[in-house]
Amino acid sequence: REAKLDLVKKHIKPYPDFPSKGILFRDICPILKDPAALTAVIDLFEEHVRQMQPQVELIVGLDARGFLFGPLLAQRLGVGFVLIRKKGKLPGPTVSVAYTLEYGQAEVEMQEDAVAPGQKVLLIDDLLATGGTLWAACELLKKNKAEVLGCMVVIELKDLHGSERVESTVFSLVQY
Ligand code: PRP
Ligand code: HPA
Repeated sequence: REAKLDLVKKHIKPYPDFPSKGILFRDICPILKDPAALTAVIDLFEEHVRQMQPQVELIVGLDARGFLFGPLLAQRLGVGFVLIRKKGKLPGPTVSVAYTLEYGQAEVEMQEDAVAPGQKVLLIDDLLATGGTLWAACELLKKNKAEVLGCMVVIELKDLHGSERVESTVFSLVQY
């Protein structure tokens, strides 16, 4: 487990002042470029999910970088994957929630029939910053009557106290 975590950490690259001055951007692209590092992320996520009680029935991923890890994990677990998208991208009846970002504002959306009432879901994204995105995602799932068992991210930026904003528990692999 420690070796896998080290491999993941080694493939996160910091970029000062991106996308604006004062932001230290943690880039996950090197993880995706390295098959062993990507496998390590999914292994560590899988290990965590498999010991959860009750069992996760559905993985819900966040636009856009939650889509990189979510389907790989869902396939490992043999469960489905559902998308929460930035507003205006999904067809049919949708539900949406607005929120504030570390840098800017946004609105997330999901299809009304994407989750069944009472379905036990796990949220997944690449990174937790201010927690606005995961907060909005939890609100969306609440509106759709799903049961959120938890959230999972590769990176948690502790200084921004995002986990305090998210009602559900957040599991992270790497913390800064
Ligand atoms: C980033 C990141 C998370 C979110 C975290 O996505 O991938 O989804 O911000 O920030 P928060 O905890 O302060 O809400 P971004 O909105 O930049 O969109 P992208 O994934 O489409 O690049
Ligand atoms: N890195 C990557 N994505 C992000 C960050 C960051 O520091 N903050 C918000 N989204």
